[in-house]
Amino acid sequence: MDIERVRSRFIKHFDGKTGNIYMAPGRINLIGEHTDYNGGFVFPGAVNKGIMAEVRPNGLETIILYAIDLKDKVEFKINDTVGPRASWARYIYGIVQEMKALGVPVKGFNAAFYGDVPLGAGMSSSAALESCFAYALNDLFGDNKVSKWDMALAGQATEHKYVGVNCGIMDQFASVFGEEGKLMRLDCRSREFEYYPFNPQGYKLVLVNSKVKHELVGSPYNDRRNSCENVVKALCAHFPTKKFETLRDAEWDELEAVKAEVSVEDYTRAHFVLGEKDRVLAVCDALEKGDYETVGQKMYETHKGLSKEYEVSCEELDFLNELAKENGVTGSRIMGGGFGGCTINLVKDDLYDRFIAVAKEKFNAKYGHEPEVYDVVISQGAHKVC
Ligand code: GLA
Repeated sequence: MDIERVRSRFIKHFDGKTGNIYMAPGRINLIGEHTDYNGGFVFPGAVNKGIMAEVRPNGLETIILYAIDLKDKVEFKINDTVGPRASWARYIYGIVQEMKALGVPVKGFNAAFYGDVPLGAGMSSSAALESCFAYALNDLFGDNKVSKWDMALAGQATEHKYVGVNCGIMDQFASVFGEEGKLMRLDCRSREFEYYPFNPQGYKLVLVNSKVKHELVGSPYNDRRNSCENVVKALCAHFPTKKFETLRDAEWDELEAVKAEVSVEDYTRAHFVLGEKDRVLAVCDALEKGDYETVGQKMYETHKGLSKEYEVSCEELDFLNELAKENGVTGSRIMGGGFGGCTINLVKDDLYDRFIAVAKEKFNAKYGHEPEVYDVVISQGAHKVC
């Protein structure tokens, strides 16, 4: 990311003084989609794209924000009880409220920020924004006393309370805890996690962005979550002696037992979630053995489930997935919340150039624009740059 870009704007749009610069990344996820809010496992890593912000306390009771990419300035008072209208500023307003609730005595500040996570690509630009400001406020006003987990949870609470997306914890977790070269396997129920060095010899991870806009606000994302919760309720009613908190607690035969008691749609969604739970564990096993063929096969299975059962894919992403399969790519699937955005692909080095060329050409011929391609560089989580 470009420090000069943020610094020059910060100087220009405020009083000429400089502040501290912070960065927080977006994320990829190897496997484990829509499992986080079901108490399951996810396998994300932070990337080298994110949000960079320059922040300086201003001695006032006012927070003044400048969004460099949008050329938009917004201000609000520390004690405002209603958030700003601009949707981007609501994320920061939410973080201010959540950090205050965690005991951080947030005061007025000036901030300018920009991002290079492609918006709507399913790479968590919003989590990057949340983590960047959580980190900055913790550093500037909170003596870094707020834990990493609490910063991640502050980001998630911001989504729930100020944005209206009932997301899980994966994105904020990855953006805060990421480490260079390492994926993380997180158990979203116990919050235990392990770092997995990820550097498969002979393969690359590459994202292909369909540029179909992915937008979780007001999307059927929350409906998917509701479906899962409906099935949990049915399980609780059917098996009164067993405690089901989330679908994590459900076995296959138990899901079958309530099949007639839930809608076909809810059953099908839950069927995907149980399968995905098994797939993440299978991928962990395969990674330990260096068996990338199995990793790839599971990625294809996830895509199929996300497309046919969870129904969060779209024509363009299914097309990219088919192209990958036809061209011998080891693994490919839609990544993130869905409804647009990227596929994540595990591609053998010697196939890489050909696959990218074919994907661009065929996608362009069918949809009239080329997809964007990003090589995945697994990078550090939220941090102070200078
Ligand atoms: C979005 C949400 C995450 C997660 C994914 C799907 O990125 O923010 O919490 O549910 O979708 O895996």
